Amino acid sequence: MRVFVRLVLARPIFPRSVFAPLAWLLKRLMRIRTFAFVASAALLCLAATGTPGEDFAQRYREYAVAAHHPLASRAGAEILAAGGNAADAAAATMLALGVSTPSSSGLGGGGFALYYRARDRSLTFLDFRERAPGKATPTMFRDAKSDTDGPISSASQIGGLASGVPGEPAGIEDLVRRFGKLPLSKVVEPAARMAEQGVPVSEPIAKVSAAFAAQMKKDATMRKWFAGNANALTPGQLLRQPELAKTIRVLGARGASAIYRGAIAREIVRKSRQRGGILSLRDLARYRLVERRPLSAEHFGHRWVTAPPPSAGGYTLLQSLAILERVPPHQRRRGVALLHALAESWKGPYLDRERYFGDPDHVSLPETKMMAAPRLEARAAIVHPTLAMPPEAYDLPLPVKQRPAKQPDNAGTSHFCVMDAAGNVASVTTTINLPFGARYTAAGMVMNDEMDDFARDVGVANAFGLVGGAPNLPGPDKRPVSTMTPTIVFKGNTPVLCIGAAGGSRIVTATQQVAMNLLLHRMNAKEAVRAPRIHHQAHPNKLRTEEVAPLDNKLVAQLKARGHVHEPLHHAANVQLIHRTRRRGQKPLSAACDPRKGGLPAGN
Ligand code: DON
Repeated sequence: MRVFVRLVLARPIFPRSVFAPLAWLLKRLMRIRTFAFVASAALLCLAATGTPGEDFAQRYREYAVAAHHPLASRAGAEILAAGGNAADAAAATMLALGVSTPSSSGLGGGGFALYYRARDRSLTFLDFRERAPGKATPTMFRDAKSDTDGPISSASQIGGLASGVPGEPAGIEDLVRRFGKLPLSKVVEPAARMAEQGVPVSEPIAKVSAAFAAQMKKDATMRKWFAGNANALTPGQLLRQPELAKTIRVLGARGASAIYRGAIAREIVRKSRQRGGILSLRDLARYRLVERRPLSAEHFGHRWVTAPPPSAGGYTLLQSLAILERVPPHQRRRGVALLHALAESWKGPYLDRERYFGDPDHVSLPETKMMAAPRLEARAAIVHPTLAMPPEAYDLPLPVKQRPAKQPDNAGTSHFCVMDAAGNVASVTTTINLPFGARYTAAGMVMNDEMDDFARDVGVANAFGLVGGAPNLPGPDKRPVSTMTPTIVFKGNTPVLCIGAAGGSRIVTATQQVAMNLLLHRMNAKEAVRAPRIHHQAHPNKLRTEEVAPLDNKLVAQLKARGHVHEPLHHAANVQLIHRTRRRGQKPLSAACDPRKGGLPAGN
C-alpha cells in the first residue's frame, strides 16, 4: 500500500511543503483496512503523461482539442487540420489516448460521447459502454476467486470475468460514419502510427506499472512491454504496440464489425476464457451502441446538457445545480458557504444512485419522479445553512416498484473535448475502468474491467467506494452504472463550454466545480481547472479535499466546525475543457487540460 502513497505524492501540482502533514496522515490511514479502496482508487488517474507546466491552458482561434495526453490532443488537431470535423477528431483522439495511455482507456473499453452538430443544432448522446456477457448473473462475483498478485485483485477487477463486451470500436465507427467528414481509414492513421512507432512511457505510467507488474506480466503482450527482467516500465522507453496498430488499421479498413466478428472476436473470446472469463462470440456479435436522449436543464442562466443513465453523473450534476439554485443566495456565496452547500447538494443524488440506478434498458428508472420539483424543493429545504446533515437526512424514498432486470430473450478513463471551426462540439469520456483494465490484452487491446462498476452484491462498495443496489447487479447484456459525465453547456444557442472528467466517483463533482468556476465565478480556464476541489458521495459520510490541491486550512476548519467529517482525497479527478468566450482581442477558444494529469491542449 505504501507504494501507492508514494505514487500519489510523486506529482504534486502545488508546492511539496504542503504534503508533510498529509504524508503523516496517510501513513496513519494506511493502517486502516477500509483505506484500501481509497488507496487503490488513488491509482486510477495516475497514468499521467508529463510534467505539469504552465502550458496546460491555451487559447485558439479556430479549433481546439483538450485531452489528457499531449500526443492525443495533437492527433485530434492533425485530423482537424486535414479537413476533418469534431467527430473525426474525437475518434482520432480516442484512439490515440488508448495508444498513449493504455492504463486508462482504449479499444478494449467503452464510453459516452455527447455530440453537438452546429449545422442543425442537434445533440446526440452515444452510449458505447461495455455490456455484461450473456452468461452474467447477479451472483457471479459472490464467491469468485481473487488474484492477489497485485493491489487491485477482486474477480470484478482483474481477469476474464472482469470484462464486459468492449464498446469503443462501435463508438468510434458511429461517430465517424454518422457525423464525420473523413473516411475511417484516415481517421485511425495518427493512432496506428503512434502504436507502430512507439510512444515514450511517462514517469507516472512507469510508476503505476510497477504496482501492477506481476499481474500485467501474466499477459504475453504486456510482458513484452517490460524490458528484460524489469519490474516496471522505464520512463522514456518507447512503448511499441504492433498488435494494437494492426487492430486499429483493421478497424480503419473494415469498420467495427471486423472487431465484433471474425478473427479478432475469436481472439477476444479466447483470451477472456483463458483468464477465466465467460465472453462468447455471440456476445461480441450482438453488441450494440445505444443512442440516448441526453439530460438537459436550465440552471444559473445556462442550459446544461449531460449524460443520461446508465450514467448517474449527469443526474447528480443537474440535481446538485437545482438544489443550489433553490437555497438562498447567501448560502451559496463563494467560500465556506458554497463548499458546504455543494457537499450537501450531492448527498441526495448519490443516495438515489445507490437505490435506483441500473441500466435503463433493463431496469425502470423513476427519472421523472426523482427530478420532480417538489422533491427538489424538499431536498433544498433540508440543507441547513451552517450544519452538515447526515446523508440519510436527504433520503427521500419514492413510492416506486422497479421492474426487475429482464431475462435474456434467449438470449483507467479519460475525458476530452473537441471544438471545430464549424462550431461542432464533441464531449467524450472513455474508460477501461481501473489501471490497465483487467490487465490482459486481446489483439493488442487492453481489456476493460468495467464489471466492477456493477454491484458485486447489494450493499458492497466498488473500487470507488460506491455502494451498489439491486438494480445495478450484473445481468446478461446489462451495462453497469457509471459516473462519467460528458457535458456541453449552452448560453442561448451557443455551446460555450465542453467539459468532463476522469476519476471514478469524483468525475461529476469535479466537472461541476470547474464548470461553476468558469461560468458563475468568472475564473479563466487556468484558474478554474487549477482551483482546489472538494468531494462528497454520501457514503462514506466524508467531505474530501484534494491532497494535490489543498483547500485553504481556514476553510477546512470552518467546514469541520459545521459538522463535516473531513478526509484527504488521495485520488484527484482530472478535468478537460474548452471554453468559448467573447472577449475583445482574445482568441475565442480557451482549452485546458488538468495539470493533475499533465495533458496539453492542441489547436489552431
Ligand atoms: O464509468 C465509470 O464511472 C468508471 N468506470 C470510471 C473510472 C475512472 O474514471 C477511472 N479513472 N481515472
